[in-house]
Amino acid sequence: MAKLQAIRGMNDILPAQTSTWQALEAAFHRVVNRFGYQEIRFPVLEQTQLFKRSIGEVTDIVEKEMYSFDDRNGDNLSLRPEGTAGCVRAADQHGLLYNQQQRLWYQGPMFRHERPQKGRYRQFQQFGVEAFGMSGPDIDAELIQLSADLWRELDIAEALVLQINNIGASAERKAFGAALTAYLEAHSERLDDDARNRLYSNPLRILDSKNPDMQALLAEAPVLADYVSEESVSHFEELKALLSNAGVAFEVNPRLVRGLDYYNNCVFEWVTDSLGAQGTVCGGGRYDGLVEQLGGKPTVAAGFAMGAERLVLMLETLDKVPQQVPTSLYIVVPNGLAKEAQSLAATLRGEMPEQRIISHCGGGKPASQLKRAFSLGARYAILLDSEGLDQGVVRLRELKDGGEEATLTLDEAPVQIAQRLLRA
Ligand code: HAM
Repeated sequence: MAKLQAIRGMNDILPAQTSTWQALEAAFHRVVNRFGYQEIRFPVLEQTQLFKRSIGEVTDIVEKEMYSFDDRNGDNLSLRPEGTAGCVRAADQHGLLYNQQQRLWYQGPMFRHERPQKGRYRQFQQFGVEAFGMSGPDIDAELIQLSADLWRELDIAEALVLQINNIGASAERKAFGAALTAYLEAHSERLDDDARNRLYSNPLRILDSKNPDMQALLAEAPVLADYVSEESVSHFEELKALLSNAGVAFEVNPRLVRGLDYYNNCVFEWVTDSLGAQGTVCGGGRYDGLVEQLGGKPTVAAGFAMGAERLVLMLETLDKVPQQVPTSLYIVVPNGLAKEAQSLAATLRGEMPEQRIISHCGGGKPASQLKRAFSLGARYAILLDSEGLDQGVVRLRELKDGGEEATLTLDEAPVQIAQRLLRA
């Protein structure tokens, strides 16, 4: 019978890569902690309505990419395609939002039925941050600074560019959308299929087109900046000043509109050219109307999320993968000495809880056990033998060319080994 395979676009992450993932997670946790954000966890399954009402009925995500199904009760549920909707639902349901300020973060898998390619998967991991109850551009600047701090921690800041835009309020975007549709209708013979499909349902997404002919046509099109309110313009100007003051470089990209409907005023993306087509590693912005739209009391908000797979790919491409923590010590255990080996290992782990100590299991010749110790990159091996144990000593070997071999008494072994491990 054929072996079962993972679902297309859903990746297994194997031990050779998990240390990179752990380093990325640890860096994200350090940074959100440093900025005073608190973790929130919410389910991967929600009512489909939640995503329809937040992300928008005519977005690609809701129209084409959700994993939706009727459960055994006949409720229509969806795997979460992103975290903001669930975060707002959870925070509001538990009374965390009204008249309060919250700084929250989450991480976890998201699901979108997209065409898989490098950097684009059907199950992917996001790190997200959401801030509630703060209306000024200061919180927008803080969110961007937080992300910039993470790029510095990961040593990838040089490879990322920040793009920002002011997309105004939803009514303003509607008016602009109508003007854009009218302009494009007047040039209908030049529209590609994608633009034709979106002309009436979601004209702003046409601005994202990568087709050079469409870009040429769009160069003459109405611009969103002419439709947004004075108030949103001054918010945006203040954000720019705060970013400059913080030393965060940015580009204003008037075409940046984002693929989810809940945004207003400033939006941003961090992009890289080191990943090919899927170059956006992080995106977000303000979404002042969403809490109310989902039935909560009016509560302003802003946030962003980043794709962990894309960050891991970046670390690999730029050769910034953190070094694996090596095995400190491998205990070579001749047949019949399992009991002695395990109690020695327990003592050593008790004395050096931060060190990685492996006691060989499964028997076999000492020479092949030693080979395994080398292949794991262990720094030292203890070579147990019953004669030595009878005399209360063990042999410690440094596993490198010309490495020393020392005979240690069982009593002094923990201190001696700890000293050697610290020295190098
Ligand atoms: P988004 O732009 O849809 O925004 O996704 C955020 C990030 O998730 C992207 O920049 C990308 O790095 C990653 N991502 C998206 N789709 C995929 C995929 N199929 N495969 C791999 N990575 C992917 C949101 O999700 C918003 N909830 C962000 C937000 C939070 N806005 C405000 N608060």
